[in-house]
Amino acid sequence: MTATHRLRRRFAAALTAAFSLALSACSANRYPNSIFERHTEFNREVLSIFKSLFVWATIVFVLVELALLWVLWRYRRREGAPQPRHVHGNTTLEVLWTLIPAVVLVFIAVPTVRAIFRTQAKAVPNALEVEVIGHQWWWEFRYPQYGVVTANELYLPIGRTVNFALKTNDVLHSFWIPRLGGKRDLIANHTNYLWFTPDSADEQAWNGSCNEYCGASHANMLFRAFTVSPAQFEQWVAHQKSPAVFGAVPGAGAPAPPTPAATPVAFVSWPRERLPEYAIPNKPLPDGLGWNESLVGDPARGQQVYSRSACIGCHTIAGNPMSVGQIGPNLTHFGSRLTLGAGIYPNDARHLALWIRNARAMKPGVLMPTLGRGQYDPLLKTTVTTGLSDQEIADIVAYLQALK
Ligand code: CUA
Repeated sequence: MTATHRLRRRFAAALTAAFSLALSACSANRYPNSIFERHTEFNREVLSIFKSLFVWATIVFVLVELALLWVLWRYRRREGAPQPRHVHGNTTLEVLWTLIPAVVLVFIAVPTVRAIFRTQAKAVPNALEVEVIGHQWWWEFRYPQYGVVTANELYLPIGRTVNFALKTNDVLHSFWIPRLGGKRDLIANHTNYLWFTPDSADEQAWNGSCNEYCGASHANMLFRAFTVSPAQFEQWVAHQKSPAVFGAVPGAGAPAPPTPAATPVAFVSWPRERLPEYAIPNKPLPDGLGWNESLVGDPARGQQVYSRSACIGCHTIAGNPMSVGQIGPNLTHFGSRLTLGAGIYPNDARHLALWIRNARAMKPGVLMPTLGRGQYDPLLKTTVTTGLSDQEIADIVAYLQALK
């Protein structure tokens, strides 16, 4: 083996080692929002471009640095040496250093353009259609093929291409699930599309977020995506399609029986205990927000209070004929959601009570009004005098939590 051969092999080995190190440093659990994952064809495309760019950039960097060092050494200043020859206006050199970057760019452009064409093509015809609607500051997910509407928690069957139609209700937002694919903007009066297939994903929870500055709570516009088995997805859809089953609905005749707990538990939502650490909402509560945990709510009373409060002006609960508002998230199966306030707080009794009492103290700029009696509304800069009592809030919490 010649010396050049050995050098070349060592160089290749060093390059590979550096690259693997860079990749392994971005392992899933240390960096849950890493893009160096290959769970969808979208991310595989992106990763392969990234790799080839990395290799080309490394080669260019090494060659340029070597040439630089060589020139520095070869033409270093020496005692009594004549002035070096000037190359200003040298046509050959100028053509050369225009051509070389152009050639390098071709190596970058060809795979990039190819990937753009592949990922921007129309999705396969039997894809799962999901409408993503950005709101200040939460995500609405609609499954038009199934008539399902939900918010901030996205369920995707493993192995099926999903075609997202991206729209916005107000300003620019950007949809991104780093470990699956994206990001792509949600633009007013225009539908953007994005598709990928979670074909090598396992049953897993993934973080998603908004990536286009969209106002006060841009950083509070998170969501979770869950990749589930096709069977679980079917069960989830069937459950989502069913109206919320709980107690008596004002004006709806006989009360519907509550879901019997004894029936075999189909897949209704991602199990709370299987939420990986990185997906557990961890936004600390602002100072001074406390809740009297000893208040016990009554779901039936909660339904009455809910159905005659401001809640129904904004929220829909299928199965509650009073609740048909379209401004806020659909709450039909709110009790089975794991997060609150667009993925920033855990959906538990305490956070939910505080949220109903004064969402504006928990999320800057949120449109939901301050509902708690005696609470200071930071947006209107007034104290609410006619709102809900803590007991009424506890009742609404019990009602919403019962909407599994
Ligand atoms: Cu929505 Cu940033």
